[in-house]
Amino acid sequence: MKILLCGSTGRMGSVVRRIAEEKGHGIVPLPRTGTWDAAELDVAIDFSQSAGTIAAAKAAMAKNIPLISGTTSLDDAARTAIAEAAVQVPVVQESNFSLGVYLLMRALDAMAKDLPQEFSADVLEMHHRHKRDAPSGTAKELAKIIGQGMHNAGPVNFHSIRGGEICGIHEVRLIGEGEWISLTHSALDRSIYANGALRIAELLVRHRREMAPGRYGLEELCHIGGGGTPFF
Ligand SMILES: NC(=O)c1ccc[n+]([C@@H]2O[C@H](COP(=O)([O-])OP(=O)(O)OC[C@H]3O[C@@H](n4cnc5c(N)ncnc54)[C@H](OP(=O)(O)O)[C@@H]3O)[C@@H](O)[C@H]2O)c1
Repeated sequence: MKILLCGSTGRMGSVVRRIAEEKGHGIVPLPRTGTWDAAELDVAIDFSQSAGTIAAAKAAMAKNIPLISGTTSLDDAARTAIAEAAVQVPVVQESNFSLGVYLLMRALDAMAKDLPQEFSADVLEMHHRHKRDAPSGTAKELAKIIGQGMHNAGPVNFHSIRGGEICGIHEVRLIGEGEWISLTHSALDRSIYANGALRIAELLVRHRREMAPGRYGLEELCHIGGGGTPFF
């Protein structure tokens, strides 16, 4: 694949670039300023900030290629740009591209429906000191799943810790009377996110002809790819 990569110099972008090149894919960086062009592109991947996401969405439309964005804490203009791109091309926008968090979310979804009302829910997340947003996009997604699944769920309490170079830890605590449940995912390396985004890019490029423009969630990608997860 030939990949247009927004945020190529960042922590995530540089890992995407390394793994993509190891896999034999070509990378075209989308610079913050200045001009760029590439005749043949298959897909755009974005791990940047809102302004970068807007640039990536515009580039995906200009080149008529699918867009995969992992950027979190998008502002309104970036959300609008994603929505506009989805009118023209397939778009996947997710706060977490790791297999483990995907499976944790599925387990939480199944569990939330059966949780009695007296259970309270807390989401604790720990990340490196450079992370701009808190709570993380993944923490908000986990809270959304609890809110959608649990009958009369109270507000989910967030706890965010920033320090050092912690890659990403998410823990959901469901606390009842006399017992509590804990679900934890620990990211040991950024390659899990990069590999996930690249697997989805490969899937979108492989199925490009049969995919209508629009927003695709991870569950829909399972059906398109015919696998148990969107990553395999
Ligand atoms: N979905 C997931 O699985 C996942 C996993 C991890 C992180 N993330 C998210 O990915 C994003 C990036 O994280 P990170 O740790 O890699 O951040 P980072 O190290 O700060 O890198 C951000 C990158 O974006 C570039 N950038 C910023 N504004 C831009 C613009 N207007 N146009 C083009 N490029 C622009 C930066 O370029 P400069 O070098 O010029 O500043 C830099 O290369 C964050 O939102 C983070 O939460 C998502």
